[in-house]
Amino acid sequence: CFAAVALQIQCYQCEEMTHDCSTPEFIVNCTVNVQDMCQKEVLVKDDGIHYRKSCASSGACLIASSGYQQFCTGKLNSVCITCCNTPLCNGPRQKKRPQPSAAVTLNRPQVRVFSLHILLLSFILC
Ligand SMILES: *[C@@H]1O[C@H](CO)[C@@H](O)[C@H](O)[C@H]1NC(C)=O
Repeated sequence: CFAAVALQIQCYQCEEMTHDCSTPEFIVNCTVNVQDMCQKEVLVKDDGIHYRKSCASSGACLIASSGYQQFCTGKLNSVCITCCNTPLCNGPRQKKRPQPSAAVTLNRPQVRVFSLHILLLSFILC
């Protein structure tokens, strides 16, 4: 037998909200070992800014963010997709300047936040 450790992160999840949906009721547990990133889409529409957030696999998120890079202009009908890999990292808008969609924020480890929101699951496999 051996022990295996699985990683689970939490992300904010919402569909086309006209607010940032960065409050606790939008927190979801991502699929263990599969969804290892949080994704955030910011859509600029004529009735305002819409947000779409979810857990994602890194492959899917990186493909989406690079595919939408050309649409990330900040203008009307633009779409920006960002990916990040720390728990709840698709939360409130960063205070620093906005990042283009292809700029993946692979954050340096934020140890305190990490230990608070990450769930380590251990399995015994026989
Ligand atoms: C996420 O998982 C934790 C620990 O298993 C659980 O307490 C919590 O209720 C879960 N949250 C959601 C939104 O499912």
